[in-house]
Amino acid sequence: MRQKLVVGNWKMVGSLAANLTLLTRIKQAAPALACEIAVCVPFPYLAQARSVLASSPVAWGAQNVSKQPQGAHTGEVAADMLIEFGCRYAIVGHSERRALYGETDDKAARKFAAAARAGITPILCIGETLEERERGVTAEVVSRQLHAVLAQVGVAAFAAAVVAYEPVWAIGTGKTATPAQAQEVHALIRACVAAGSAEVGAALRILYGGSVKPGNAGELFAMPDIDGGLIGGASLVAEDFLAICAAAS
Ligand code: 13P
Repeated sequence: MRQKLVVGNWKMVGSLAANLTLLTRIKQAAPALACEIAVCVPFPYLAQARSVLASSPVAWGAQNVSKQPQGAHTGEVAADMLIEFGCRYAIVGHSERRALYGETDDKAARKFAAAARAGITPILCIGETLEERERGVTAEVVSRQLHAVLAQVGVAAFAAAVVAYEPVWAIGTGKTATPAQAQEVHALIRACVAAGSAEVGAALRILYGGSVKPGNAGELFAMPDIDGGLIGGASLVAEDFLAICAAAS
């Protein structure tokens, strides 16, 4: 039985004051919720997340990680630095990084490997653009993105990883994939991993991301291969994020 997981991706949003209010609300509500909860915050706020969430069931993580070990890489953050700040998770291959910061399948795979080596659970984001969906190549795109990582790290590494299916056209647009559309891709992702190891495929948590809100979370999370959500905008509003967590509980 896979425990549901709801992860907030704050993206590049926050302030010490606003974070404190949000983190405190989540921490207070979390013990009553049956799902696992995590927040992926901007790097400078990891120390704050650790200090507020330390004695709570809520985990925290980063939104990116360097593919390199420590060294001369100005502006990058190494996985073993994230470990020092108690990160359980690191997002890799988010579509915003793929579209705006040149993150390729290969870079995402190397970041996945760097996180995994350090003992951080990578949250690998994959998903098609609107143009790709309209061309009917969603399955090809998603399996290419997934296989790029499988080929580099091997299926066993997915035993300690999370995959997030985030259709690019649903991110921050208010347009959500229907539960059936999302389920179809989630089943495909699970089948790709299960082809390498039935056991790893069956245990893998696959999150849906893209305009998840309190009003649509329940029907998405009810699908057999949707194991929770990666939440952008709604993760910044305590009531909304907690309502989504409640829908996963
Ligand atoms: P929204 O929930 O704002 O659509 O963002 C989704 C996302 O990109 C999470 O990583």
